[in-house]
Amino acid sequence: MDVISITVAAYIVASLLFILSLAGLSKHESAKAGLNYGIIGITVALAATTSLVVHRASGLQQGWLPIGLMLVAVVVGGLVGLWRARVVEMTGMPELIAALHSFVGLAAVLIGWNGHINGPHLEGGTASDIAQLVNIHEAEVAIGIFIGAVTFTGSIVANLKLSARMKSRPLTLPGKNLINLGALVLFTVFTVLYVLTDAHHDRSADALLGAVTVVALMLGWHLVASIGGGDMPVVVSMLNSYSGWAAAASGFLLGNDLLIVTGALVGSSGAYLSYIMCKAMNRSFISVIAGGFGIEAPASTTTDYGEHRETDAERVAELLSNARSVVITPGYGMAVAQAQHPVADMTAKLRAQGVDVRFGIHPVAGRLPGHMNVLLAEAKVPYDIVLEMDEVNGDFPDTDVVLVIGANDTVNPAAAEDPTSPIAGMPVLEVWNAKDVVVFKRSMSTGYAGVQNPLFFRDNASMLFGDAKDRVEDIVAAL
Ligand code: TAP
Repeated sequence: MDVISITVAAYIVASLLFILSLAGLSKHESAKAGLNYGIIGITVALAATTSLVVHRASGLQQGWLPIGLMLVAVVVGGLVGLWRARVVEMTGMPELIAALHSFVGLAAVLIGWNGHINGPHLEGGTASDIAQLVNIHEAEVAIGIFIGAVTFTGSIVANLKLSARMKSRPLTLPGKNLINLGALVLFTVFTVLYVLTDAHHDRSADALLGAVTVVALMLGWHLVASIGGGDMPVVVSMLNSYSGWAAAASGFLLGNDLLIVTGALVGSSGAYLSYIMCKAMNRSFISVIAGGFGIEAPASTTTDYGEHRETDAERVAELLSNARSVVITPGYGMAVAQAQHPVADMTAKLRAQGVDVRFGIHPVAGRLPGHMNVLLAEAKVPYDIVLEMDEVNGDFPDTDVVLVIGANDTVNPAAAEDPTSPIAGMPVLEVWNAKDVVVFKRSMSTGYAGVQNPLFFRDNASMLFGDAKDRVEDIVAAL
């Protein structure tokens, strides 16, 4: 067998491993196996690609220089990636992921331009066949650059918003939907002209492709800048999806089947995740893109909800010891405080005392899809007591104590009860139906959506102020 056939076979094996990986990652129990399939798959893919590159290099006129330069870039990039992944805080994950998506976008733009400059690789065929292939190649170039550029600037804005270096408030330019639509029309027109133009290596082709790039860069920026507040979870998974399509487009240009398959897997799973996120927030995909969520003045921030009550760790420990059933609803604050380990200790202690402890996880709790699940799994909380919102929402009336640990928007009754609230209609964990609710946070300040939470002022709720990790450790000590 020659190197090409071995590479093709290895690509098929890697593709299958990636599919197994995604299937594994969809369930707690099989997530680790899924991760391992992914690692093996990418190792196979890298090994196969390297052997192909080395094989091609031996036939290159320029010798080993280009390959050597490429390998240096791969090693430097790999080391920087390893370093960033090692030092990133769990709370910095969302913006890191957004930044990584931007690289996929940028790579797709560069590959597209490279495809434009070098032209298609055509072998044999009649003149009309070749003309058709050239047109297909050019359409691939323009589409790849478009998706890549939208992903690139969109991800940069998402990174800036998630790291709070840019206001999370949506940008509302007048006629913003028309701007988006206009950009799509311009892209279509420029692409058609680019494909139809005969002089491929003259200034007009360069200018048309340049125009496609600029329109897409501006569209990506505008698209994500116009989405704000509570819709950011959807944006993160939407950009994940775009980065997949950008990679698939590059795969077509490079004639690399593995990149096409992998890109399509990332693209479609990201699109499905966006759909799940939209459902979780009771929003339609179009209304997220068309934006406007969180623009309304947050009416509830000015409402006087009365006084809140404070409690302390000893009293909460006593409340927990006397409870029959406890539900813990963690949120972003648990991630900030890195409180998952003491939370796991507290859970084990209570369970040993015969208390029924379960977790209720909101689909957009934290700042990443599955954020809370990852933290709880890391702290070795048993999977079978970690339930989704829909599984636990009906049980709150029969629950003695709910511990809201660093969650805010995801337990806000205004979403269910106040139609004027900016988060009205978003399904939430209905913790207020329990007998007692203890809220762990450091102050009375608002959560991600910037909306005050009337839960804190309810008669059955009390606040346990301070860093969530410290307070949970105090409770563990008191237990
Ligand atoms: P949030 O509404 O963001 O509230 C988190 C709360 O944690 C804050 O009110 C904060 O109050 C508290 N907190 C922060 N650090 C703490 C610490 N060290 N100790 C104790 N408490 C601490 O959280 P949530 O309920 O998880 O909701 C998630 C929000 O993020 C939603 O609005 C969602 O749409 C959005 N979002 C989600 C995602 C995904 S994919 N999950 C992505 C982007 C945005 P203090 O400052 O008073 O302590």
